[in-house]
Amino acid sequence: MGAFISCVAASCAGQLPQPGFTEVAYTTAADPVKAEPAKAEPMGAEKVVTYNKDIAPIIYQNCSSCHRAGEVAPFTLLSYADAKKRAKQIALVTENRVMPPWKADEGAEKFADAHLLSMDEIARIRQWAATGAPEGNKADLPPAPKFAQGWQNGEPDAVFQPTEAYNLAAEGDDVYRCYVIPTDYTQDRYVSAMEVRPGNRAVVHHVIAYLDTSGKAREKDAADPGPGYTSFGGIGVTPAGSLGGWAPGLVPRLAAAGEGILLPKGSDIVLQVHYHKSGKPETDLTKIGVYFTKGAVDKRIRSMMVLNPLLRIPAGDANYTTSAQRTVRDDITVLSVTPHMHLLGKDMEVSAKLPDGDEKKLVHINDWDFNWQMIYGLKKPMKLPAGSQVNLTARYDNSTDNVLNPTNPPRTVTWGEQTTDEMCIAFLFYTVDSEHLTKGETAVKENGGIGGGALAGVSPALRQMAVRLFDKDGDGKLNEEERQAALDWWRKNGTPAAPNN
Ligand code: HEC
Repeated sequence: MGAFISCVAASCAGQLPQPGFTEVAYTTAADPVKAEPAKAEPMGAEKVVTYNKDIAPIIYQNCSSCHRAGEVAPFTLLSYADAKKRAKQIALVTENRVMPPWKADEGAEKFADAHLLSMDEIARIRQWAATGAPEGNKADLPPAPKFAQGWQNGEPDAVFQPTEAYNLAAEGDDVYRCYVIPTDYTQDRYVSAMEVRPGNRAVVHHVIAYLDTSGKAREKDAADPGPGYTSFGGIGVTPAGSLGGWAPGLVPRLAAAGEGILLPKGSDIVLQVHYHKSGKPETDLTKIGVYFTKGAVDKRIRSMMVLNPLLRIPAGDANYTTSAQRTVRDDITVLSVTPHMHLLGKDMEVSAKLPDGDEKKLVHINDWDFNWQMIYGLKKPMKLPAGSQVNLTARYDNSTDNVLNPTNPPRTVTWGEQTTDEMCIAFLFYTVDSEHLTKGETAVKENGGIGGGALAGVSPALRQMAVRLFDKDGDGKLNEEERQAALDWWRKNGTPAAPNN
């Protein structure tokens, strides 16, 4: 199952940039709000826009976190010289909203770590570039932003890494390498944040730390020569959970006080690193730092997926629309939402319908970009009462007009782990309101974890149909094998009268 970036709401927000996407990004103008060119505010002819006074604060705030040494962007934006050299380009990418990368409709009013410039800021940059990019008065320059060196949250409580570096070939398909790292803790522990330090940023595309308590990942490791084992997409065993993920530009943050992710005693961390080959042989040794919760934990941070594994996108269809829904069984508080599709995805909306009929929007990605996948952490966690239905609507472009379409001529595309396959998932991280671990009150009713069943996002009618057709042992439910048979059949043949497909 393609758990992708499984990340803790409050503890992270990230992006997956990848070289070579900007041409595409320039031409995307899917959303009328975003596509609308910024109108220059009437600034008064006498007002001179200078770098020191007007532009540096915008850049420090919105650009420098990625545009600095050792970070993901290809050049630094920290000085006047840096900015002046590219003034026109900066005006263009900000006006087109290619930079800073941000794909949701809503910005900082709703999401933590949002990078979304205001119309006024965009207009100021444009005016500055158009008037020769003046430096201005040195005294106006604000202090340069300070970025933590090394671990962003300070020295972690524990650092985990594979026993040896991995050698990646120069060319070929992407590699998903899973490193099995025993924790050997004799008690359950709670994790507040996990921070990833990629060993080699030229090839590390993203990282997810899964947890395995079955010992099966160890077996896979033993059977595969070299450090770790290769498993495309998922980790090849049903994980017991996840500590979170990392993508370039991600800033891990500590979970709220009293909340944490369970690290079960004796579990192995399965660190899955997704590598993009660089054209020359590379080595990588990626490590993670773990910060344990301080003080008592009252609520466990849990995850669920809303997904439709039965999607079937006809060749040439430029606007295939599909949906998934999932009913929430307890009163919960949603911390973050992470939409996930591959290269054909163009739009995803995740919302919740409350039992009283009220509709709450979680996130709307109107201009999906595989290279900029983010974890949308809600500034104000969202309460969803039991019985709320989380709805996901996703649209895909499987025509030749989609310049990212990996298959030409297009072919029918179904669910799968390869980049030429598709996915349709929203990960939600949440806590259960009734849970008070400090009082011994555990939320027993799971809303569905990472291994919460591949048919979880499928409508009840379709699930019933699956049971009728594929329950070979007649016990009234589908075991892993039967579920797999159902999925395989549907992916191949499409869903007959599928109510939500
Ligand atoms: C989350 C990280 C991130 C942030 C924030 C960010 N950038 Fe970038 N920027 C990148 C990456 C990565 C690239 C390289 C894209 C590529 O590989 O084509 C890039 C490329 C660019 C380019 C070159 C575009 C081109 O056509 O090659 C410009 C100009 C730019 N950024 C300006 C900015 C400005 C101005 C801001 C702030 C207003 C900003 N960026 C914020 C990550 C970021």
